[in-house]
Amino acid sequence: MARILVNNSGPLHGEVEISGAKNSVLPLLAATLMTEDICEIEDVPDLADVSVMKKMLRKYGAEIDDSVHGIIRTRTPEIVTFEGDRDLVTEMRASLFTMGPMLARCGRIVMPMPGGCTIGKRPIDLHLKGFRALGAKVTEDAEKGTVTVEAGPEGLSGDAIYLDFPSVGATENILMAAVLAKGTTIIENAAKEPEIIDLANLLNKMGARIKSAGTDMIRIEGVESLSGCIHQAIPDRIETGTFMLAAAITRGDVLIKNALPGHVRPIIAKLKECNVDIDIAPEGIYVDARDKELVATDIKTLPFPGFPTDIQSPFMAFLTTVKGQSVVRETVFENRFMHVVELNRMGADIQIENREAIVPGGRKLHGAKVRATDLRAGAAMVLAGLVASGTTEISEIYHIERGYEDFVGKFKALGADIMKIDD
Ligand code: EPZ
Repeated sequence: MARILVNNSGPLHGEVEISGAKNSVLPLLAATLMTEDICEIEDVPDLADVSVMKKMLRKYGAEIDDSVHGIIRTRTPEIVTFEGDRDLVTEMRASLFTMGPMLARCGRIVMPMPGGCTIGKRPIDLHLKGFRALGAKVTEDAEKGTVTVEAGPEGLSGDAIYLDFPSVGATENILMAAVLAKGTTIIENAAKEPEIIDLANLLNKMGARIKSAGTDMIRIEGVESLSGCIHQAIPDRIETGTFMLAAAITRGDVLIKNALPGHVRPIIAKLKECNVDIDIAPEGIYVDARDKELVATDIKTLPFPGFPTDIQSPFMAFLTTVKGQSVVRETVFENRFMHVVELNRMGADIQIENREAIVPGGRKLHGAKVRATDLRAGAAMVLAGLVASGTTEISEIYHIERGYEDFVGKFKALGADIMKIDD
């Protein structure tokens, strides 16, 4: 089983280039199913999740050219199956983002129900609520563990849809389905993440008519068909936040290039509250935590533009090292504190009360054998390992490789004493 070894590394220093956003590229690739024309997506990171999405698209009939690093050219002349692949859906929940495009393109999709994962049961009721509102028939087969969504003979027709929770995936799936529906669709209480805007920009380049993506009310005028396009994905705001925290936890200074400050405002604000210096430079974001007494702050995760849940665990690792007690409240997922047990193995002494973690500061962490319990928790363990005494061995690192391109290489370039061990 591959694992990562991290030794106490001292302050990180230097520059890191942020890759394209995983959570943008996945829906962007799914959207290419909606046209027979060639689409080219640029700044695609080399990630395990991207490989799964390419497999998913190929199963549906896509012809993909990924011979140039960072660029995916794809075209889907015809859809060859209506069935989502169970293994791929189990491997990656974002495979669900192909439901909206398939419904729009050919009016039918049979999708295996996604397994939950370690951060909660993660239902898809809001996705299905949106598809029903667009006139689709949704039938769940508990025995086969599949959900079948099919448009009527007239195709999909626009409607007003209220999302009980601003779900990112539900917003994206419904947005894609609505683009080729007849008439107008309004998505109310829509997710406002930058990845939604990036997807809407791609779809509008393809001929869609989407207005006010990025607000809580998105308006879509249905069109007959879409054509191909060339689109560059936005940089990854969660990778950006992860490396901002790497500078902060090691008391180093790092220039994070290709980062968009507007996508990480809550992280900038909270790190400043901890007394970290943050400068917006022309090349990116400069984080300087050298020679400072850093102090505690409280965190509450919320949908965008609130504090991102995906940065909760890396930020918690950082909070174990600052002066004073912090409280971290997770409101987006019902079970995203699996990393607390692992941090406590390193001497963090964090207590959980309901959906709040009480994080004592000033801890001198020590190396231990720990697990990556989800993608972002894995990153949190690497951060903790950088400042812990001795060696930290992180297993189940396939989680990390799902969402961070060249993770070990980027840390090494900043002076981290880190290596990947392949058994
Ligand atoms: C996206 O997941 C991201 N994944 C997640 O990033 C991210 O944590 C999450 O949004 C929140 O920002 C991708 O974009 C590929 P949600 P998604 O639907 O769409 C509940 C990472 O580390 N919900 O916004 O699955 C759900 O249970 C990953 O990169 C319903 O109740 O998230 C959860 O509690 C982890 N019914 C909450 O909404 C639904 O139909 C947020 O889920 C859908 C969701």
